[in-house]
Amino acid sequence: MNEYKLFLNGEWLDSAAGETFEDINPATLEPIGLFQKASMDDVNHAVDSSEEAFDSWSTTPPPQRAKILYRAARLLEGRKEELARLMTVENGKVLQEARGDVQEAIDMAYYAAGEGRRLLGETAPSELPDKFCMTVRRPIGVVGLITPFNFPLAIPAWKIMPALISGNTIVLKPSSDTPLLAIELMKILSHAGVTRGVVNLVTGVGSEAGAALVRNRKVRAVSFTGSLETGKWVLSEAGKDMKRVSLELGGKNPIIVMDDANMDLAVDGVLWGAFGTTGQRCTAASRVIVDEKILKEFQRKLVERAKKLKAGSGLDESVDMGPLINGRQLAKVEKYAQIGADEGARLILGGCRIKHIPGYFFEPTIFTNVAADMRIAQEEIFGPVLSLISAKSLEQAIKIANSVPYGLSSSIYTENIKNAFLAIERLDSGITYVNAPTIGAEIHLPFGGVKATGNGTREAGTTAIDEFTDLKTVYFDYSGRLQKAQIDTQN
Ligand code: UN1
Repeated sequence: MNEYKLFLNGEWLDSAAGETFEDINPATLEPIGLFQKASMDDVNHAVDSSEEAFDSWSTTPPPQRAKILYRAARLLEGRKEELARLMTVENGKVLQEARGDVQEAIDMAYYAAGEGRRLLGETAPSELPDKFCMTVRRPIGVVGLITPFNFPLAIPAWKIMPALISGNTIVLKPSSDTPLLAIELMKILSHAGVTRGVVNLVTGVGSEAGAALVRNRKVRAVSFTGSLETGKWVLSEAGKDMKRVSLELGGKNPIIVMDDANMDLAVDGVLWGAFGTTGQRCTAASRVIVDEKILKEFQRKLVERAKKLKAGSGLDESVDMGPLINGRQLAKVEKYAQIGADEGARLILGGCRIKHIPGYFFEPTIFTNVAADMRIAQEEIFGPVLSLISAKSLEQAIKIANSVPYGLSSSIYTENIKNAFLAIERLDSGITYVNAPTIGAEIHLPFGGVKATGNGTREAGTTAIDEFTDLKTVYFDYSGRLQKAQIDTQN
């Protein structure tokens, strides 16, 4: 079996304690490789390397840093199909989606590289004569990046590319379910010319390697995508050292379907939003709030289509839905199917593990007669489980949509402009789609959510640069005399 190493200070190394863990293919349960289980010593080594590399990387002109990112983008492009296949084997998502994941990383690499010739600040007039005011951006320092399994390349790229173009050096701790794609990304960055120590990789478990990264005092910012529970821990722990923290946590994303919607379009969108990536997206649609007048017909059409979804190995191009990532997730989804039934929701599709194939497969599952306050309608499941909730009006639909702790993505299907704008205005979420499902964010726009989804930061778009830079305000006085703001101006 292949054994993979840690990437520390430009070298591929064993973990200090010599411990490893196995990564398996969730569709076949076959092992993929052995990976190093990093301990605190390894994490400290990574952070020290990153700290040492900071001076030279942060003083390299951003357009020069950009050249390396452009090369990384081209290398990713050249290996797109190969990386997508590796991803399907490691993560389980179907090939078409794996290709999209790689493409998202490519897009982010190009986009961040373009920022090398921007990294814009602002200029402003002074209240005093012969004085110039502006803001400039500075890198933060060593940043710790902790990423989930569901976008094994895209999410590391969302974080790494903007962090690097901004002049930071990084330590990446990917999910222990998908370390392989992170290894490939390190290889690509290093082939592209990222110098020694600028990027470091520690694989291992969150409670050890991840925790050591969050606690290391030399790490000045932490960017974390994952569960609410871990996010809360990261925020409080990193807060002890006044680190910058950005969090992208869960979602319980609603699609509202109005009686004036194009129903076939809405059915298409709900299928893709709920069962794409086997429901394992923070942005997945897990609630559909349907106008009561059309609920019956919508439900019938949806079930008819969802029934036809084919589960299986993502390498088979005729398959629509891959497996869940691991046994824990499978057990969790199964538990929620039971909770839904116990709460009195009516199961109209699925509800069970798929047992005739070896991997972690679960049927596309739909509950109807779901009350907005049931656990299946409130808690993030991260699997192919959809709740249909009926609403009497747009006002009630919005109220139901907003009744959950999270606020990442939301959507409305309507042909009525007024309904669309009311939804945009009133839905409590960081992202709202009109006539499109809750998934499919593009990398040049801000990504993130409100309420328990995060702490107010946004990834991607121009906000990605905000996430990884500090602003410095500069007052440049060329008058040759002492001028006092707020005082000399009194008359
Ligand atoms: C996530 O689920 O954490 O918008 C990210 C989307 C993808 C990214 C999802 N582009 O669904």
